[in-house]
Amino acid sequence: MTESAQSHRKDEHLSLGVKLWRQNTMPVIGATYDDVRWLPNTFPETSVSEVDVSTKLFEHHFKWPFYIEAMTGGSALTGRINMELAEVAAESNIAMAVGSQSIALKEPETRDTFTIVRKKNPNGFLFANLGADHPISNVRTAIDMIDANAIELHVNAAQELVMAEGDRKFYWLDNLAEIIAKSPVPVIIKEVGFGMSQSTFKQIADLNPAAINVGGANGTNFSIIEQRRNRLSEAVNLDHYGLSTVESLLEAKMAKNNLPLIATGGIQSVNHVITSLMLGASLTSSAGFMLTTLMEKGQKSLLEEINAWQVALPRLFTLLGAQNITELQHKPLIYSPNLQNFIAQQKASQ
Ligand SMILES: Cc1cc2nc3c(=O)[nH]c(=O)nc-3n(C[C@H](O)[C@H](O)[C@H](O)COP(=O)(O)O)c2cc1C
Repeated sequence: MTESAQSHRKDEHLSLGVKLWRQNTMPVIGATYDDVRWLPNTFPETSVSEVDVSTKLFEHHFKWPFYIEAMTGGSALTGRINMELAEVAAESNIAMAVGSQSIALKEPETRDTFTIVRKKNPNGFLFANLGADHPISNVRTAIDMIDANAIELHVNAAQELVMAEGDRKFYWLDNLAEIIAKSPVPVIIKEVGFGMSQSTFKQIADLNPAAINVGGANGTNFSIIEQRRNRLSEAVNLDHYGLSTVESLLEAKMAKNNLPLIATGGIQSVNHVITSLMLGASLTSSAGFMLTTLMEKGQKSLLEEINAWQVALPRLFTLLGAQNITELQHKPLIYSPNLQNFIAQQKASQ
């Protein structure tokens, strides 16, 4: 396959994403998962065999409350990664999202790098992925391409504005309303690592999508990825912009959000999954962590890592005395002074 500029960009995002994740030198934005502690529970009065960690969203029963988030497809390399991720998802019975399919709409010869995911995982739950500016006809094509069970529409103004070749116009709300009204599968509105504020949750409430992916900071940071790609210091620097995933979930609570939430952004351990569920998420997902594990350690190690999460989850639910996610969400949390400060300030701003 001869690779276009867009294809090449996919590969650059991939290699820089992995590199930055590995170097672990990205700035910390706001409150992290370390700012939230679980209260010890001395008498669990339950057993691992009684615990059900599954979750229900869009009338679908997800056996595990975490999945592989949108990243790849559109180049030979990212097609191979999609294939390997799809095999892992099928083997471990977790859901998976493909990366933006916009390239496959423009360059049909790249379609195979996405359709491979359905081929390798015929019965799995798959999320299609497109930007929020696509017309409903493209949304239908993307869904059909991989026989998707749901579609994520990414809202990534910050990412586009730091990208040299990115979009500069953002009129999304009316288009999203139309897609949500007409899409044949559930629609998720998804940030890509800059998080969401109370006013955003209120705006999304009016659109009434099937779910919101808060896509918070402290994991993959596209501001830094774009700077490294461009190798020139652009005036638009968003290294410290955004709300973390923890903060975004709290913002949703403060906005009295009633829509189902998906937590993404910096989730790299089963403890982060649990904390996200306790803060109100119905489901969680990880991109950079899954990708880095695959690229650095190989497919078998990624599968082992996911299996380890699957073993640990019911044990940790048991420790906290929760037999299911609803019970878990009623367990107490302790917030650091830093996070308490954030909550006080944000409550006052309502
Ligand atoms: C290499 C790479 C490519 C990505 N491509 C997409 C994409 O095409 N569409 C999308 O919605 N998000 C994309 N993302 C963002 C992730 O889905 C996720 O929202 C973000 O990386 C934060 O999660 P993390 O901290 O677990 O990586 C990409 C992330 C990475 C690392």
